[in-house]
Amino acid sequence: MGLEERTQKTGPRPERPHARADWKQMVGIGVVASILGIAAGLLIDWFPIAASDEAKPIDTLWDVLIIFSVPVFVGVTVVVLFSVWKFGMRPGEENLDGPPIHGNTRLEVIWTAIPAVILVGLCTYAFVVLEDVEAVEGRPMEVRVVGEQFAWTFYYQRGGEEVASRELYVPKDQQVRFTLQSKDVLHDFWVPAFRMKKDAVPGIDVKYTVTPNRIGSYPIVCAELCGLGHAVMRSTAHVVERPKFDTWLTELGQPAEEEEGGGGGGGGGETDGKAIFASENCGSCHTLADAGTTGAVGPDLDDVLADKDEAFIKTSIEDPEAEIADGYQGGIMPPNYRETIPGPQLDALVTYLSEVTKGG
Ligand code: CUA
Repeated sequence: MGLEERTQKTGPRPERPHARADWKQMVGIGVVASILGIAAGLLIDWFPIAASDEAKPIDTLWDVLIIFSVPVFVGVTVVVLFSVWKFGMRPGEENLDGPPIHGNTRLEVIWTAIPAVILVGLCTYAFVVLEDVEAVEGRPMEVRVVGEQFAWTFYYQRGGEEVASRELYVPKDQQVRFTLQSKDVLHDFWVPAFRMKKDAVPGIDVKYTVTPNRIGSYPIVCAELCGLGHAVMRSTAHVVERPKFDTWLTELGQPAEEEEGGGGGGGGGETDGKAIFASENCGSCHTLADAGTTGAVGPDLDDVLADKDEAFIKTSIEDPEAEIADGYQGGIMPPNYRETIPGPQLDALVTYLSEVTKGG
């Protein structure tokens, strides 16, 4: 193409040579980029270990969404970048117009119909998966999950009474129905390994079911920004064999005396203050040298408890608002430890804290 062509100032822009070849090149780049994009999307390990029956259909749905959505994103991006590269204005064309186009019915029908079919298909599929993972089979085990700033408490039925635990225990291959409740603001009960998650809404019972299918311990996180302590509103979900679960539930919240002589009881019967400090996750908010924790949400216990007696420590745990350390804010520490830590364990925790914070 000669430079003389650039002297033309107005009127329709002349047809570019190679337009058809450019088109083919763009489609080729789009197809290759889409294939690479889909491959990358499927190769990336997006999720943690799957530990529930619900995880598989949800992960498959995710993969199908990747397969359909990556080409859409890649296609749009390729057309934009390719157009900038090949069809952009060149010097001397400032006043020229593109060719006049007035609609193309066939093209418009195609670009409306294809996305519509994809969208309806994916919505139908997603709805089927949702119905599948929310299906309740027979009589699931009931666990009441109560969120509050900033802790989870799990309530189990045990022979007519309700018992509380700070950590979640569920038997393997048993469908569990969680009833989510909140004492204050919105929280969100999420065990990523189970994949399911829903908000805990004050005043409403929100339910979902999960069938854990893999032995192990998995993080529980609050997935709704709920205040200053949101990041430490965590716990652990333990998936255990049925007999182990039954034993755990039987011992949950039992007075520690019953285990004496049996030597080092596990689970709910702990009387070792250090172990209780760990199992109650105190260290996520508090620094305590003896336990090796460095939490900074609440006061440094080595510091604030150095000159305090056991009575003060006990009051501070049972009624966290009684005295707030300088520079800290009230309303963050859960107010219900009196209810969730059995008396003997609470005393052991108090004794432990008193002993390890007295320097020397
Ligand atoms: Cu509770 Cu975030």
